[in-house]
Amino acid sequence: RWTTGNIIEDAIGKVRTKVGAERVVLGLSGGVDSSVVAALLQHAIGEQLTCVFVDTGLLRLNEGDQVMATFAEHMGVRVIRVNAEGRFLGALQGIADPEAKRKIIGRLFVEIFDEEAAKIEDARWLAQGTIYPDVIESAGSKTGKAHVIKSHHNVGGLPETMKLQLVEPLRELFKDEVRQIGLELGLPYEMVYRHPFPGPGLGVRILGEVRKEYADLLRRADAIFIEELYRHDLYDKVSQAFAVFLPVKSVGVMGDGRRYDYVVALRAVETVDFMTARWAHLPYDFLDLVSRRIINEVPGISRVTYDISGKPPATIEWE
Ligand code: XMP
Repeated sequence: RWTTGNIIEDAIGKVRTKVGAERVVLGLSGGVDSSVVAALLQHAIGEQLTCVFVDTGLLRLNEGDQVMATFAEHMGVRVIRVNAEGRFLGALQGIADPEAKRKIIGRLFVEIFDEEAAKIEDARWLAQGTIYPDVIESAGSKTGKAHVIKSHHNVGGLPETMKLQLVEPLRELFKDEVRQIGLELGLPYEMVYRHPFPGPGLGVRILGEVRKEYADLLRRADAIFIEELYRHDLYDKVSQAFAVFLPVKSVGVMGDGRRYDYVVALRAVETVDFMTARWAHLPYDFLDLVSRRIINEVPGISRVTYDISGKPPATIEWE
């Protein structure tokens, strides 16, 4: 009978047999799958594991520090954090088209990951958080859903002498099992049950051109929304929730003065498969509170709207 405990034991045994005493590289994103792989490999091979965490500058408030705290500080995982905000923002300058942004972010991500992986001496294996549904899906093409690292199987940018073989310890598991394993291995509940976050991150939640100023405003608004969802026990009742930055200015009044500032949209959906979704009917009082907090606490944002579009016809993300 398969229990979480013996799924873990089995996976650990297989990894040890496979990689022996050789070194393994893992791209850590902070998402559930790569996090569980990191925790599992830490248990299985400890010091042989090096994680590369690319901070794109398009992550949520304090996300990079949280990833480092969870893995490097608390679990003793060797993690190389690459602060690449400048490179990402530079590459995205002047680019407004969503698909062009996705391509730039994906390409740069792979490039930076490869640069770092190539510096890890004697690395022979590339670990990935591929799970069973990814294996089934990989033949089909779910547009827009680009698992950057996952689709990057041959690690093209690495030197010939450094061809990495794949190790995918979650390949036979469903998401629920992956989450159970994560909890069992000591990952925080909020990390294991966090809403999905797209690979391109805030790059597709800032409409049009991505700028640091916009990303900073969006991070603060988004953090308030998420904090209040947790506080009101609503986080686990919605499938995905986030703020979107609209680079248009709207007039408002604040005290005696007029403000002419940016707009943020809140998005929250309920869905089982993310292929169709309904907008979450969050309580008006809750939305009122979130709106007030954002406008009061985030100078630069003067208006908050709530997205009441279903999928279809709208998508969950705005880009
Ligand atoms: P849409 O916006 O297509 O989103 O209704 C469906 C789900 O996919 C996520 N999403 C992405 N995930 N790279 C990703 O890794 C992407 O480019 C991307 N675009 C959308 C979205 O967050 C939602 O969960």
